[in-house]
Amino acid sequence: MLELALLIPLLAQSLPEGPGKELVEVICTACHDTNRIVAKQGTKAEWQSRVLEMLQECPDVAQDERDKIVNYLAKSFPKHVNVNTASAKEIEAALELSAKEAEAIVTFRQDNGKFHAVQDLKKVAAVDSAKLDAVKDRIEY
Ligand code: HEC
Repeated sequence: MLELALLIPLLAQSLPEGPGKELVEVICTACHDTNRIVAKQGTKAEWQSRVLEMLQECPDVAQDERDKIVNYLAKSFPKHVNVNTASAKEIEAALELSAKEAEAIVTFRQDNGKFHAVQDLKKVAAVDSAKLDAVKDRIEY
């Protein structure tokens, strides 16, 4: 039996550390394993509606636990966005920017061509550079 006990952790797709991880491990594996979860990306709103749908028949999961799960998933599996092809609305949602900042990125792109790195995005005067640093792992070029 020792071999089996050693194998189980290897088979389960491991989740990144963070507050809410244990809740996901316990609550979200009742019907399927975590492979289904780690394969997905989403904005906070998208994770919110997925969690709502998944837990429809689990009324015993409290609201604060649901909120923690959504925050964990939105942070661990955020939506990626290609800043050279996405619309302002998509950029706004995926990078948590204001509508004005997202529109400025699209206008800059139309005037100056493609972005290649976060440094290029920082040239857009209307955009807060600190916000870009916080989400740079989600940006594709
Ligand atoms: C009551 C059973 C049940 C629980 C609990 C459950 N799921 Fe699911 N989940 C399913 C079923 C059934 C599917 C496949 C059907 C589908 O794709 O809609 C699925 C599919 C998924 C998918 C893939 C859907 C897609 O868009 O392709 C994701 C992501 C997911 N679940 C996340 C979660 C998360 C996060 C939790 C915990 C909050 C959770 N699930 C808890 C039953 C469950």
